[in-house]
Amino acid sequence: MSNSFFQKDIVSIRDFDKKKFETIFDATDKIIKMNPSERRELARGKTLGYLFFEPSTRTRLSFEAAMASLGGTSIGIADASSSSAKKGESLADTVKIMSLYSDVLVLRHQLDGSSRFAAEISEKPMINAGSGTEEHPTQAILDLYTIWKEKKRIDGLKIGIVGDLKYGRTVYSLLYALGNYKVDVHLISPTALKIRADSTYEIKKRLPYKESTDLEENLDDFDVLYVTRIQKERFADAEEYAKVKGSYKIVPDMLKKMKDDVIIMHPLPRLDEISHDLDSTKQAKYFKQAEYGKDTRAALLALILNENGF
Ligand code: NCD
Repeated sequence: MSNSFFQKDIVSIRDFDKKKFETIFDATDKIIKMNPSERRELARGKTLGYLFFEPSTRTRLSFEAAMASLGGTSIGIADASSSSAKKGESLADTVKIMSLYSDVLVLRHQLDGSSRFAAEISEKPMINAGSGTEEHPTQAILDLYTIWKEKKRIDGLKIGIVGDLKYGRTVYSLLYALGNYKVDVHLISPTALKIRADSTYEIKKRLPYKESTDLEENLDDFDVLYVTRIQKERFADAEEYAKVKGSYKIVPDMLKKMKDDVIIMHPLPRLDEISHDLDSTKQAKYFKQAEYGKDTRAALLALILNENGF
């Protein structure tokens, strides 16, 4: 029987259940332990094609590094202004062409719905690497894996998510993913950056959560604190951004008020919402999280490309 990811698109984390997460977690553990030569057989002769219409550091590079570690190669467009999109070529044609040149596609695009659309066009499996403000499913996979590895469980945890909950697509994917577990979620943001009203119904259906604006008074509450960047590029009005810029900043002093074994996560890039002085503390897990990004993406690619798993 083929594994449930074989040749499948990864468009939304809403399509995932606990079993799928467990499959990827186990595959990731296995990939980390595998000897490099065995690992390089998993995508030998295969090509990953990436299309990034928005900036990226970790997502694109971790996919490339993951593909290389599986013995495959990557080709792609890291900057759409250097592609024929600049001449007016449609997303549909760009995706179609890439799907003729590669075995698996990775797309980041500024429009909500771009990934679902591309998956319909592509003849090869399509992985959503960020679709507008909507979703970033592979980020949620690595976020959950980080929690699972660092806290040894997900059920029963108290999870604070702070920052830009309106425009941060990683937040939506993370919330949908957490809906598969019994967790207490506390959302903290400026009032103007609360979860979008059109998504609250869907999120409430999946998990209970409370909302507030004050981080300081809730610091002792969390097992996991997930910090996000205020998404400047998504604001229609620069004045609105100026009002909420720098709303929260995590500094080492705050650790005194937090559980000793809290883990602090961030999808990165960070601006000033986490002080660099925190980086050397045992609670800071955001670089480890980025490292797990490569491993979880390698596991996902290996499952998509190998019918019988590995
Ligand atoms: C995030 C994104 O692109 O949504 N970045 C990432 O992939 N780690 C978060 C962000 O840009 O703030």
